[in-house]
Amino acid sequence: MLKITTVNKPLAKIKTDFIAVYHLSEKNNLNSVQNSLDQQLLKLVKNKIKQTGYKGEKAGENLLVENCSSNQTKYIFIVSLGKEKDFNSHYLREAAGLTLQTAKKLHCQNLAVEAPSLDSLPPIQTIQALTEGLLLADYSFDKYKKNKSKSKLKEAVIATNKHSAQIVKTGIKLGKIYSQAQNTARNLVNEPPQFLYPKTLADIAKQISQKSSYISVKIFNRKQIEKMGMGAFLAVDQGSDKDPFFIHLTYTPPQPDKNKIVLIGKSITFDSGGLSLKPSDAMLNMKMDMAGGAAVLGVFSVLDKLKPKAEIHGLLPACENMPSGKAIKVGDVIRASDGTHIEIANTDAEGRLTLADALTYARKLKPDFIIDLATLTGAAIVALGDDIAALMSNDKTLEDRLKQASDLSGEKIWPLPLPTEYKSHITSKIADIKNVGKRGSAGTISAGLFLQHFVKNSNWAHLDIAGPAWIEQPEISYLPPGGSGFGVRLLLTLINS
Ligand code: BES
Ligand code: ZN
Ligand code: ZN
Repeated sequence: MLKITTVNKPLAKIKTDFIAVYHLSEKNNLNSVQNSLDQQLLKLVKNKIKQTGYKGEKAGENLLVENCSSNQTKYIFIVSLGKEKDFNSHYLREAAGLTLQTAKKLHCQNLAVEAPSLDSLPPIQTIQALTEGLLLADYSFDKYKKNKSKSKLKEAVIATNKHSAQIVKTGIKLGKIYSQAQNTARNLVNEPPQFLYPKTLADIAKQISQKSSYISVKIFNRKQIEKMGMGAFLAVDQGSDKDPFFIHLTYTPPQPDKNKIVLIGKSITFDSGGLSLKPSDAMLNMKMDMAGGAAVLGVFSVLDKLKPKAEIHGLLPACENMPSGKAIKVGDVIRASDGTHIEIANTDAEGRLTLADALTYARKLKPDFIIDLATLTGAAIVALGDDIAALMSNDKTLEDRLKQASDLSGEKIWPLPLPTEYKSHITSKIADIKNVGKRGSAGTISAGLFLQHFVKNSNWAHLDIAGPAWIEQPEISYLPPGGSGFGVRLLLTLINS
């Protein structure tokens, strides 16, 4: 793993293969570059700017200066953070990710980057974002490849001569913890579904609790799930040969502040659609349908290190959605643990069924608020694309806290309404409710309204992460293709605030 260290020195004095400097576009007179480099290096940069016409106006725009052989340094890499008024910590991670990718490609053994001083982001968060960009970009899933990606890059030094050692240390520490949690979630999402099924998630939850001083776990098997009356969750599992598990993790803080939070993650370890079978192309990445659960496990895997003050519960209703002679049928009516009868109108709308029973369980814990994360609807991708999760909530304060956490963590969310009028979309002729809405109309919202039925009056937010949970095209430097681990940084930021 890449080692992140720090020295209290100007960049030009560090012995390294690769130097990176970031600047805001208003300062593209390269003030910051000027202050960071010595005369010799600066001359090389100035020449290169003349040659290339580099302006650095757009975030991510960059300039590579090669053959700086007169010095220890072989390369200088300048990256723009964009306009100050548009600044978001995302651009720092993007710049750090680009830095890592470029230094790796050039076979550098080490690199040094200067932590910029920014008006709109405190130094701890600046250094944290830099660290995250480096460590998240360095991730690869090559467990099943003969040729593992071997990188010569072993160390990244964050140079700071403006900030106190304590601030720098804290920023790096947080960046490492958040990245480790996110990479844990990525590993789970990327694992093939024949190796990762409900029992695997239960075992991982057990391991997390065994390693921890503050986390306990309850794992409910089929019989116990039946006893709890979770007919909606069990209906989804019905077609599968694998046993379902209802996983309940509890973090009890060493210094409690009396707040209680429940996090729920959709944990369908493979979504074939069931009898409403998905076409092959749509099924291709459906091992990722447990990305919500993976994010919750990722969060729990680092709680011992973060030691937040709130009591935190993590719930994963884990099963597969498979077709078979035993599978639920379209037209079946099932009974959820709160007594609601649900008409199954499409067996591919399975996530909301598992979440219905998890929400009822969550409510009984009497938390201050509940957040669920779910790869719930393809319609969320139609509405918001691959980068942004849909947020639905019945609690304005929680919504605001999530928006703040989103800004800081760089994980994008956008609100959708839960209009009472649309409840008619999910009324059933023969049961209390049905599991799909109107065809081609507000699919993400009708899923949200379905969940809200089970939430009752609890404070709650629902994040439909169908888009950002999986990266198809590498468009963002620190998000390699595959499971993204979306939601981990967002939740950790919220918990830690
Ligand atoms: N897991 C899918 C949603 C999904 C789609 C996640 C694409 C990630 C990428 C979910 O279980 C599903 O199949 N939803 C259906 C609901 C429909 C039948 C009402 C959908 O979105 O098509
Ligand atoms: Zn489905
Ligand atoms: Zn699904």
